[in-house]
Amino acid sequence: MATTMSVSVTVNGAEYTADVEPRMLLVHFLRDELGLTGTHIGCDTTHCGACTILLNGTPIKSCTMFAVQADAQALTTVEGLMSNGELNPIQEAFKEEHGLQCGYCTPGMMLTGVALLESSPEPSEAEIRMAISGNLCRCTGYQNIVHAIQSAARAMAGNDTSVDGGAGGGNGASEGGGE
Ligand code: FES
Ligand code: FES
Repeated sequence: MATTMSVSVTVNGAEYTADVEPRMLLVHFLRDELGLTGTHIGCDTTHCGACTILLNGTPIKSCTMFAVQADAQALTTVEGLMSNGELNPIQEAFKEEHGLQCGYCTPGMMLTGVALLESSPEPSEAEIRMAISGNLCRCTGYQNIVHAIQSAARAMAGNDTSVDGGAGGGNGASEGGGE
């Protein structure tokens, strides 16, 4: 029988504890153990950014961490962006600005955008492009993604839309991607 370790995490404001193999990647923990399939797997090798989530508010590639390394940390996945049944401004902006086509990169793009806007509420286009440089999109050509993040920045101005690694109030419903 494989050795297991206990991991306890807060995901989208809810606490989870599970026994997992030490080799289990965080992205597989989120998708297979918790059923949060909005976090996508593109490459499994830290290149594409499809698996991006927030770890204590900072974007990380969840295929690059073991689940046990996230013990006692607060995570935000795309499912946590909605609050009280309302889309996060970044979700609205991606919809309005046509910031997606197939949607595969979209959860990671939006979480990267949310983190950028937390640290830089009025980012320049160059800042936005730098922030999403670790997130690959094979469909859009990036222009509408940049427009969406700029639009979200305008919408968030003056509003408290903080996503601090668990305060997003997620309800488990998959948004912005699914499988
Ligand atoms: S699946 Fe993690 S970076 Fe591609
Ligand atoms: S919308 Fe298809 S990969 Fe970005």
